[in-house]
Amino acid sequence: MSTTDPAKLERYRYKLRQDWTDEQTVTAWRKWQAGLAGFTRGATEAVLEAAQLRPGMGVLDLASGVGDPALSIAAAVGASGHVTATDLGPGMIGIAEELAHKQGLRNIDFRVADVESLPFPDQTFDLVTCRFGVMFFPEQVKAFRECLRVLKPGGRVAFVVWGTKQQPFLTSTIDVLLKYVEMPPLDPDAPHAFMFGERGLLQSRLQAAGFADAREEVRTITGHWKDTPEEFWRQVSEIGPQHRAVLAKMSSPARATAETEIFDALRNLSDGTVISMPLEIVIGTGTRA
Ligand SMILES: C[S@@+](CC[C@H](N)C(=O)[O-])C[C@H]1O[C@@H](n2cnc3c(N)ncnc32)[C@H](O)[C@@H]1O
Repeated sequence: MSTTDPAKLERYRYKLRQDWTDEQTVTAWRKWQAGLAGFTRGATEAVLEAAQLRPGMGVLDLASGVGDPALSIAAAVGASGHVTATDLGPGMIGIAEELAHKQGLRNIDFRVADVESLPFPDQTFDLVTCRFGVMFFPEQVKAFRECLRVLKPGGRVAFVVWGTKQQPFLTSTIDVLLKYVEMPPLDPDAPHAFMFGERGLLQSRLQAAGFADAREEVRTITGHWKDTPEEFWRQVSEIGPQHRAVLAKMSSPARATAETEIFDALRNLSDGTVISMPLEIVIGTGTRA
């Protein structure tokens, strides 16, 4: 958060934990895991590329959710390498563990861990990764310092976050909804999913934490959703804790009007079988000197 007010920080931490460990969130991520993994495959590939993986590496994946990109990294570092996948709550990481088991991955373990106080000794890992998690961390520079602490000298971080708010993923879904419902204004100090759309912000936070050679790269990938607009919207509305809060405030007629508009917008991105949309992401990297 861009505040040092301890009470505000505590409220944000409480809400973050509540949102991401809530049973509805966990159930929705289980339900949509395969479709989402396919839709955001380009983001996983961006982490794998930025991570400069080598067989034998010891990797810590933060905020792993239901296993992206931890499972792909485990496959890439091979039997001589190892991945520790972590998340705030047991629900999400439990699903990741089930998937790893199904895929026959043996070089990965799963831990409940808050990025703000990682339960690992100094200089444990060669690499720390995170996909679509960093933007939620309450105090990002402090969290990045935790990453530095657990990295070996010469070790690296590779993070992928969302880019601009002005992208179809939002403008054709939640932004439409918000036209039809009055919501309290967002706390300008609070982290939010698309905050690193601000150019240079991720790089400057990595630099502030003490990473050498901190960089960010903005990239547009394409998300493919092999199902109908209605199913895409159902997924978006169920997985995001904040989205469910907006929907809960809407009257049925307002929701129906908004959803008609959302389906039209999504149909414009579909060839009748597959929805394809550009997704702007930001890739952040840095090394421990
Ligand atoms: C949008 S999900 C991303 C999950 C996964 N990495 C992916 O790309 O699909 C965000 C994840 O960040 C986790 N998270 C949020 N704050 C965290 C924190 N302080 N420490 C650890 N995990 C956190 C949440 O529990 C959630 O699983």
